[in-house]
Amino acid sequence: MARDGQRRNLYGRRQGRPLRAGRRALLEARLPDLQVALPDPPGRLAAGALFDPLPDRLFLEIGFGGGEHLAWQMGRHPDAGFIAAEYFITGVASLLDQLPAEPPPHLRLYIGDARDLMECLPDALFDKIFILFPDPWPKRRHHKRRLIQAATVDLLARLLKDGGALRFASDDPSYLAWALQRLTAHPALQWQARRPADWRQRPEDWPATRYEQKALAAGRRPAFLRFRRRPRREAETGG
Ligand SMILES: C[S@@+](CC[C@H](N)C(=O)[O-])C[C@H]1O[C@@H](n2cnc3c(N)ncnc32)[C@H](O)[C@@H]1O
Repeated sequence: MARDGQRRNLYGRRQGRPLRAGRRALLEARLPDLQVALPDPPGRLAAGALFDPLPDRLFLEIGFGGGEHLAWQMGRHPDAGFIAAEYFITGVASLLDQLPAEPPPHLRLYIGDARDLMECLPDALFDKIFILFPDPWPKRRHHKRRLIQAATVDLLARLLKDGGALRFASDDPSYLAWALQRLTAHPALQWQARRPADWRQRPEDWPATRYEQKALAAGRRPAFLRFRRRPRREAETGG
């Protein structure tokens, strides 16, 4: 949230074509149990306010689009807790469509700019954070709209547990270079790649998203970056 308590401007699409009645009904039925509300007045949310009891492992997905990756990860990690942020309501409805009728107990959704939510979350909350194919905003005058900025990288490092993982994918060479520069510049984040295959090939526990499929169909080659959050003591002493 901007420091004056105002939410950020949203530049992407909030809604595509009008939602079908079935999807509107799904949102109305499911969202009340799943949605995270930001504290008012602005402040930090306690982890216990999000989940009770708190799962041992928590994952965050930022900009989950149609939710295919999120649904896959939830199926693969039934005991983990998931917080997921997306401001495109059509994507939220598409995610809900993929979930079983009974709302999963370990899922919380934030509909809006993920950074507004992240600023309210406590330190060292997440085992994994996923940012897959964020909007590249290719025009120079729009670069300030890119999700990856120094302030966002600080937030990511603050929210990851020691040893936690950040996954980032992009098919846009300019955004990739931009993100790599900012992520590798952070003293708490360590890029895990040792050889080209480590970023050229998607790991097995990382399913393809809709945007990856679009990129491949258009002949663009995505990159898959994995970072580890250094233990806090090590990062502070530069060890
Ligand atoms: C290019 S799409 C990629 C979607 C999905 N991750 C995939 O790979 O198929 C980017 C998504 O991120 C969402 N998004 C962009 N910036 C966001 C933000 N600051 N907070 C929440 N969602 C965001 C957009 O609405 C859009 O659905």
